[in-house]
Amino acid sequence: MTASSMDDLVSLAKRRGFIFQSSDIYGGLQGVYDYGPLGVELKNNLKAAWWRAMVYDRDDIEGLDAAILTNPMTLRHSGHEATFTDPLVDCRACKSRWRADHLEGNTCPGCGSNDLTEPRPFNLMFKTQVGPVQDGGSFAYLRPETAQAIFTNFKNVVDSTSPKLPFGIAQIGKAFRNEITPRNFIFRVREFEQMELEFFVKAGEDEAWHRTWVDLRLDWWEQQGVPKDQLELYHVPADELAHYSKATVDVMYRFPHGLEELEGIANRTDFDLGSHTKNQDDFELQAKVEPNSDSNAKLAMQDLEAKAWHVPFVIEPSAGVDRGVLAVMNEAYRVEELENGNTRTVMSFKPHLAPIKVAILPLKRNHEGIVTKAKEIKKNLMRLGVGRIFYEDTGNIGKGYRRHDEVGTPLCVTVDFQTIEEDDTVTVRHRDSMAQQRVAVSELPAFVEEFMRS
Ligand code: GLY
Repeated sequence: MTASSMDDLVSLAKRRGFIFQSSDIYGGLQGVYDYGPLGVELKNNLKAAWWRAMVYDRDDIEGLDAAILTNPMTLRHSGHEATFTDPLVDCRACKSRWRADHLEGNTCPGCGSNDLTEPRPFNLMFKTQVGPVQDGGSFAYLRPETAQAIFTNFKNVVDSTSPKLPFGIAQIGKAFRNEITPRNFIFRVREFEQMELEFFVKAGEDEAWHRTWVDLRLDWWEQQGVPKDQLELYHVPADELAHYSKATVDVMYRFPHGLEELEGIANRTDFDLGSHTKNQDDFELQAKVEPNSDSNAKLAMQDLEAKAWHVPFVIEPSAGVDRGVLAVMNEAYRVEELENGNTRTVMSFKPHLAPIKVAILPLKRNHEGIVTKAKEIKKNLMRLGVGRIFYEDTGNIGKGYRRHDEVGTPLCVTVDFQTIEEDDTVTVRHRDSMAQQRVAVSELPAFVEEFMRS
């Protein structure tokens, strides 16, 4: 059995400490979740894999970590104040509120009434007071996308790193949207994380780069254990495009609740840099932008041969971290029938994503020789820097294996009497095949390092 329902994932996530409802002891906060001891490891590993692919493996992308609190001017000139809305309807019968485009027909999902108001635009941005004086003017937005701070820092990054086109700026961080109806666990939430790349290119090269990034992102998801046959590309029709986009390809994944967006890859043209730039008339912008007398920056590049300034186009692969965690968990989840008639639940994460890489299990928890050896092995494996190596001395090896199957630990190492009395070898037990082999303690670091690379 490999299929999982959302209930299976929610239950395992809570039971094993991956994801909890936020503020649970006070009844929760709708659309907000917390990552537990294993969830934070999984999420960090996914983000690290993205950062490695974007920033470390390439020399044409730099990183950024900008603030969440955002000057309203940024989101006015980005177009978010005017257009970042969802259609809201009220049910007159039960007073509930719904997103019009999520309704089946004209029926309230709460009470079944058809007495609904006409849809009206509801802005999704959260506002917060800045400073102690509540005079209405002193507010900031919680950013609705990480992208905007990449655009507003464009000149800072260009001036400090002197890149040549094409080049990118990557960022991972929180974003906030006041969703009308958060739902489907961590799929549609009000506080979430994004992994966004803004890849700046010459106008005219944008469409080829757009195709390239779609291919690169499909390959990357496959490397995280989300196979291409579970993904579909959705070419967003013109009447559904965001206000900044010339073309968007959504990477759709078969989540337990249905086929939905995992990542959007947009051609944002010169809209954003053009919108935030001063003296826009100096440039032949292809996007239609509103005049901007608030900005003091020229967000443009100089062509050194022609000496001309121009505003680059931008391709944006924008992935949801939480949706990524959900997809990776869904793909990893399986329940297997064992020969003895029992079942086991296994999270077969790719090794680089597994919250715990190796569990060290001493056969006897009070045996000094075994415990000392097991702790020494942990210390040696920690030096590899591959992630969490977990020493666990419950003394019940069978239960330890089951528990580590369920949290996705790819290798368990058991230290027993043979280790300390006979040949200084340990049992390495593999999560997916359940195969066991003896490995010399002296060869264990090289063994684990090689395994982690596979
Ligand atoms: N930056 C694109 C998005 O947040 O949807």
